[in-house]
Amino acid sequence: MKIYTSGNAAKQWILSQLHEQFGDSAFRILDLGCGAAFSWKAFLQTHQNVRYVGYDYDRIALERGRKDYDGMKNVVLNDGDAQTLSTEIDVDVVTAFSAIEHVVDRPAFLQTVFTSLKSGGFAYLNFDDGHFRSYDLKERLMVPVSQLLALFGFQGPYMKHVDDALFRSQAERAGFRFVALRKHNIFPLKGFMKGASPEAVRAWYEFEEQMNELYTPEQLDKIKWSTTLVLQKV
Ligand SMILES: C[S@@+](CC[C@H](N)C(=O)[O-])C[C@H]1O[C@@H](n2cnc3c(N)ncnc32)[C@H](O)[C@@H]1O
Repeated sequence: MKIYTSGNAAKQWILSQLHEQFGDSAFRILDLGCGAAFSWKAFLQTHQNVRYVGYDYDRIALERGRKDYDGMKNVVLNDGDAQTLSTEIDVDVVTAFSAIEHVVDRPAFLQTVFTSLKSGGFAYLNFDDGHFRSYDLKERLMVPVSQLLALFGFQGPYMKHVDDALFRSQAERAGFRFVALRKHNIFPLKGFMKGASPEAVRAWYEFEEQMNELYTPEQLDKIKWSTTLVLQKV
């Protein structure tokens, strides 16, 4: 297994899936809520046939990403709201990393994913639950505060727990076929693995994959705080 990103088993799994599906061939990725796209670096460096377009409305993160990807012509980071986007069409894959919990209007977001994807294309929509299970009181308090701010139009800090079943039914209503639900990032192992050796990271990732084969997403939800919904436009 080639390691593309060392601190997040969910993102590594998505990137490995893309490599398995496309190998070194050319394809187009639309990444919504891309931030600075920092988890993509190794993948995009080793897959230069891929055209990656990211969208976010956080201009500071975008600027950081543009500096980091300076000189890589296959990477474009754009300013845009994923709930209303209509500029990218017929992409092969749509991704969202650690992003759905920050999206205010999820049906509108899913509509963007659906209209951007080509027929037969896949979406990997990932979301985390750490903010909502944290022991840090300040972080927990920010959840209702961020939801209140969104009512007044400030969407930047927004966060709301994503209910797996509800999000899946919203996706199916948008026209998607459900493919899979995967659970990653065992708490507190994810934090413990910061700065770990490549051998340790590899063992962690392999363990996470075995757990996904042995247990249901509902069972894993108790210990794994990151979820990826895989969808296909049929
Ligand atoms: C936790 S960050 C993750 C960033 C990046 N995907 C990563 O994994 O490092 C979530 C991002 O989603 C972005 N976001 C949330 N709602 C969005 C929307 N409607 N349109 C564009 N970006 C959005 C936020 O601005 C933020 O940069």
